Amino acid sequence: MTANVLILNGPNLNRLGTREPDIYGTASFADLVSLCTNEAQALGLIADVRQSNDEAELIGWLHEAADALTPVIFNPAAFTHYSYALRDACALISAPLIEVHLSNPAAREEFRQTSVISGVADGVIAGFGIESYRLALQAIFRMTSV
Ligand code: DQA
Repeated sequence: MTANVLILNGPNLNRLGTREPDIYGTASFADLVSLCTNEAQALGLIADVRQSNDEAELIGWLHEAADALTPVIFNPAAFTHYSYALRDACALISAPLIEVHLSNPAAREEFRQTSVISGVADGVIAGFGIESYRLALQAIFRMTSV
C-alpha cells in the first residue's frame, strides 16, 4: 500500500543508540522505526521510514513526496544547518512538512541554532528524543484529517 506519510532521516541517524547517547538517547534506529510504524498504525496512517547519509538521495525522496503529494516528517540531521539544496527540495512539497529533531538544537552549539529548513516547514518539533516523531505524526494526522 502507498505510504501516506514519509519519514526521512539524514546523516548519522542510522547510528542512533550508540551515537552520543547522552544527547540523542539510547533508542536505536530500529526502535525509532518501530515507534513510527506503531504510532502511524494507531492513527490509521501508513508510514514509510527511511534514512540516508547522502544528500542527493534525500533530495530524490523529497521529489518523490512532492510528486505524490505525500506529507513528510523530516530530520535533516546536520544538513539542517547548511543544506540550501535540501531547503529548496522541501519548498517543492505542498503537503504538510514537519521538521523534527531528537535534541533541541536551539539549546546547543551556535552552529546548530540556525536551521535553513524551518522557513519552509509547517512546524518544528525538537527536544523530545524519539517521542518528537510521535508528536510529529500526531500533528500530520490533525493537519490531514478534516
Ligand atoms: C539532530 C540535530 C543536528 O544538529 C545533528 O547534526 C543531528 C541530529 C537531532 O535530531 O537532534 O545529526 O538533527
